[in-house]
Amino acid sequence: MTTGAPARHAGEPGALKIAPSILSADFGSLAEEVGEVSSVAEWLHVDVMDGHFVPNVTIGPPVVASLRRHSGLFFDCHLMMTDPGDFLEAFAKAGADGCTVHVEVADTTTLLAQMRGLGLRVGLAANPDTPFEALEPHLGAVDLVLCMTVFPGFGGQSFMPEVMDKVAAVRAAIDDAHLAVDLEVDGGIDPETAPLAARAGANVLVAGSAIFGHERPWEAADAIRHAARGAMTPSR
Ligand code: DX5
Ligand code: ZN
Repeated sequence: MTTGAPARHAGEPGALKIAPSILSADFGSLAEEVGEVSSVAEWLHVDVMDGHFVPNVTIGPPVVASLRRHSGLFFDCHLMMTDPGDFLEAFAKAGADGCTVHVEVADTTTLLAQMRGLGLRVGLAANPDTPFEALEPHLGAVDLVLCMTVFPGFGGQSFMPEVMDKVAAVRAAIDDAHLAVDLEVDGGIDPETAPLAARAGANVLVAGSAIFGHERPWEAADAIRHAARGAMTPSR
């Protein structure tokens, strides 16, 4: 097994984490943009789109490798790809810390094992219309569950509150089984929607446009953290 540098620590499972998504950053000055949030974010969310699983194309391992030289943040790579297995090793070598694949693509069990073998933190994502039951059999094999709160493909879409029932179901399953698993939400997160997600049980909040679309991204990240913290249950 060959991977890149040792993975950065993900932090305590279940603790509140803010993960700015670089999808809404200026790709022409990514390192500077990431630097603007590095002291107010635990993770950096990297959206990888293949033009097939979603109708958009973004970035791949070379950009992760470039950013790795500029940032010590935990890189949380969200692989919106039909065949993520072909690229997991490249992401690991590039300096990804965690990778998240979608449960809607085939061979989830194999992909999760592949990520584990590469030393990656293991994430599993579900689209808004994918039920909890699709995630449930895999909860013991992952470090992170991502409940999409928009249909993936683009930043700047509206938060879907109807996903909160699924978030609550995942949270209950994690807590009932005492699993060391993070629960992430992604899509339309801002200071207004963050409390809804946190109240339902999410502890990792991805935000793209709300942070990088803000004149002072660090203030936006702080505002999301503050709003979410007030809504989290005391156990987290
Ligand atoms: C959507 C991506 C998200 C996106 C979120 O397909 O997975 O990570 O960047 O962007 P906002 O926060 O603008 O909804
Ligand atoms: Zn994402």
